[in-house]
Amino acid sequence: MDNQYLQELISEARQRDGGLILNLDNKPAVVVLTIDKYNALVGGLPAEESVSKAAAPQVEQISPASPAATQGKKILVTGGAGYIGSHVARKLLASGHQVAVLDNLSTGKRENVPSGAVFYEGDLADMNFVRDVFASNQFEAVMHLAASIEVEESVRQPERYLENNAINTSKLLSVMHEFGVKKIVFSSTCALYDPAGGRPLSEESPVSPGNPYGHSKFVAEKIIEYHSKYSGVAAIVFRYFNACGCDFDGLIKPTHASHLIPNILEVANGDKAQIQVNGNDYATPDGTCVRDFVHVLDIAQAHELGLKFLSQSAGFEVFNIGTGRGYSVLEMINATAEVLNRMIPMEIGVRRAGDADLLIADPRKAKTLLGFEPTHSNLQTIIETAWKQFKQN
Ligand SMILES: NC(=O)c1ccc[n+]([C@@H]2O[C@H](COP(=O)([O-])OP(=O)(O)OC[C@H]3O[C@@H](n4cnc5c(N)ncnc54)[C@H](O)[C@@H]3O)[C@@H](O)[C@H]2O)c1
Repeated sequence: MDNQYLQELISEARQRDGGLILNLDNKPAVVVLTIDKYNALVGGLPAEESVSKAAAPQVEQISPASPAATQGKKILVTGGAGYIGSHVARKLLASGHQVAVLDNLSTGKRENVPSGAVFYEGDLADMNFVRDVFASNQFEAVMHLAASIEVEESVRQPERYLENNAINTSKLLSVMHEFGVKKIVFSSTCALYDPAGGRPLSEESPVSPGNPYGHSKFVAEKIIEYHSKYSGVAAIVFRYFNACGCDFDGLIKPTHASHLIPNILEVANGDKAQIQVNGNDYATPDGTCVRDFVHVLDIAQAHELGLKFLSQSAGFEVFNIGTGRGYSVLEMINATAEVLNRMIPMEIGVRRAGDADLLIADPRKAKTLLGFEPTHSNLQTIIETAWKQFKQN
């Protein structure tokens, strides 16, 4: 490590009044250099010219996953007041991490931010606000879930989706760069795959977003890949398939009534006379769209695994987060009727703009490299937890 670089790191550590985690050249190990430890070893703050001589033998070698390496550092969850982000924030807190949530509450709910997390209300578009959040914390990593997520709305307002999902991701990465935060887990979507590109869809399947939402997410992925390649950001992209279900207490408030399962539950509860099935002329066995439904607790678990992965490897990796099993809209309606033991009347309507016929994940990469194994993504648990959430909110 050259002397000037070390000087910069030490001066940064002084400003931050804490420790630094350094990657030693290209070796996988990390070292922790605290100013206190340094002072104790060399007897006072180092003279500029003595730093390289003194510092080299005085660092402490620790394993990459050691808690000492991340002590005092938080994980920033953008979109942590939203449906998936709040489950991710809960999961991280339960695993002993410190968590900060950044959310503008455009669709998220204040009550969804877990009480153990520090909450910053504001918009990613406002770089000064984001800078203030970074200046008030030391972040180990960012989990970036904040986004606009409605496919149909994106068809009507493509500019807004580019702005919020891609441009704001670029702004976030710039602030991460300014503050030396080098790890990100990004929430992307299966909506960017070419639905005709393979069954099931692997991470290598062709990308050809069928709508502005998927496209904006793909642009965001590329921005992150750019930072990974040229600024040394370690990045994971999770392409979730259909998130569903809720934590077992059912307390997280729903954010999107347009999703299939909340719609079915409204009918099951008698709030609506019937569920509208958006088209039955798709190229699927029963003509209705087929999706890979993955429980939100399994998605939260993937984030925990992703964080571990990032502590051991750099670079840019894309993972599908799904189960490998698809269910059609009709199958979901029938399963809900069975689990809840209620009639669920339906009506076949017209197709929605931008919907693909069949989206099923090939989840093998996440299983092999992350150890990701969905344990909650069975229909019974999905429907029961979603119902509990529905009844309580
Ligand atoms: N729900 C799914 O099935 C699904 C599938 C694939 C990918 N995803 C991705 O997962 C992520 C979370 O989705 P969700 O279902 O929890 O949606 P959500 O709407 O519940 O959560 C998004 C959160 O981001 C916040 N937000 C949006 N724009 C913001 C901005 N500019 N600044 C600050 N906060 C902002 C919202 O207030 C909300 O709390 C998104 O990135 C989405 O693209 C979701």
